[in-house]
Amino acid sequence: MSADDASWLHLDRRPRETLRAAVERALREAITGGALRAGTRLPSSRRLAESLGVSRGVTSEAYARLAGQGFLAARAKATPVVAEVWTASPRPDRAPAPVGRIRFDLTATTPDVTLFPANRWLAAMRAAIGQAPPRSFDYGDVRGAIELREALADYLGRVRGAVVDAERVVIVQGTAQGIDMLARVLAARGARRAVLNDPGLPSQWDRFVEAGLEVAGQPVDAEGLVVDGMHGDAVLTTPAHQFPTGAVLSGPRRRALLAWARGCGALVIEDDYDAEFRYGQESVPALQGLGPESVAYVGTASKTLMPALRLGWVVLPATLVAEAARLKNLLDAGSPTFPQRALAILLRSGEYERHLRRVRAVYRRRRDRLIAALDGHLPSLAVEGIAAGVHVLLRLPKDADDRAAAQRAERAGIRVAALSEFARASTGRGLVLGFGRLAEEDVEPAIAALARVLG
Ligand SMILES: Cc1ncc(COP(=O)(O)O)c(C=O)c1O
Repeated sequence: MSADDASWLHLDRRPRETLRAAVERALREAITGGALRAGTRLPSSRRLAESLGVSRGVTSEAYARLAGQGFLAARAKATPVVAEVWTASPRPDRAPAPVGRIRFDLTATTPDVTLFPANRWLAAMRAAIGQAPPRSFDYGDVRGAIELREALADYLGRVRGAVVDAERVVIVQGTAQGIDMLARVLAARGARRAVLNDPGLPSQWDRFVEAGLEVAGQPVDAEGLVVDGMHGDAVLTTPAHQFPTGAVLSGPRRRALLAWARGCGALVIEDDYDAEFRYGQESVPALQGLGPESVAYVGTASKTLMPALRLGWVVLPATLVAEAARLKNLLDAGSPTFPQRALAILLRSGEYERHLRRVRAVYRRRRDRLIAALDGHLPSLAVEGIAAGVHVLLRLPKDADDRAAAQRAERAGIRVAALSEFARASTGRGLVLGFGRLAEEDVEPAIAALARVLG
């Protein structure tokens, strides 16, 4: 298909947006929205410029940036072609199973929301509002309630080995907003290129692209993120339990990653999304504790309490605090105050850690059963990433079609994700099995059913 005539492209310039940025955004939206499909040949930069009434420099720069971000395949002396794009959907080409047909839900990204301590939360919310001084009903510090920032500084230091000054904490609406904010901070400081784990979470990739950064994938092996050969202004990584492979960043890699960041002045963004759930003896402290000036630490209540709270926190290097606060103000003028105050109460009273001990024990039993069931029903396949979190990776042979396997599983009423759904250039094959939502007594029948599908 060809799009030689560019009259279909609607240029709608936002306030303070440069022409180049507007052209780039219009093309990107046409690609991600599906109007420009993979393989479509675009008009030359000259023809596009004429059609839009802009200079050729504007269109060729927009094309070059989109090629750098992977949306276009640039060809020497030929017009660009729309590339196979990274889609934000975690299951891009899977037909949803009819409602009620899913018997076993092994979605990896969510915890068991029924474990949320509703009564304790309600009591904390009641106290948070009942005991609040009138000024806390007003707009507050955009970085968040000082009670929570201080309680987190103590908790993260004690439990995660992080070095936290409450002045450097910004409370955000989950990791999602934390990463969005950091991507914008980086872009505002002139950063051009971010490095992300490949495989990784597609939505995180999209956040950097939306902020205007070029994004490069970096492979992951059994020791976590491969640091050699990395180039960029920032890297987003999940050291405690890589998503989705579950690899734990090894000691040598942790040191290499920090040395790399210090050497080139880059920022490491540490997504510590499920580190509270560790099952082995050894503790893996946050990377931030080893390099607070090179690492922005991002934590969340999504796994420990529930995703619907949309409550997370970012601990920043001193040089980024003012810019992050400015952006948080632009985004939403600060997160809702009372859930923050309620969480501060749970942290201070020790309730939060008691809750974590309870749910950790539940997840540990589910995980142990899962490992035993996989060992019993699928003994020839390796299981990785068992040390932490609420998901594991079941490796399939390199030539297996893991998406087809996930689709067959879905038709059999078992919801799992294929590793390749999270991949960009990486070629590993496997199934990502979440045990967060799986009741203990369902683990064995779920894996027996999965083994029949794979058999
Ligand atoms: C890698 C990763 N980071 C963070 C999160 C949590 O995101 P949020 O805090 O926005 O709910 C998830 C959820 O599954 C995740 O997989």
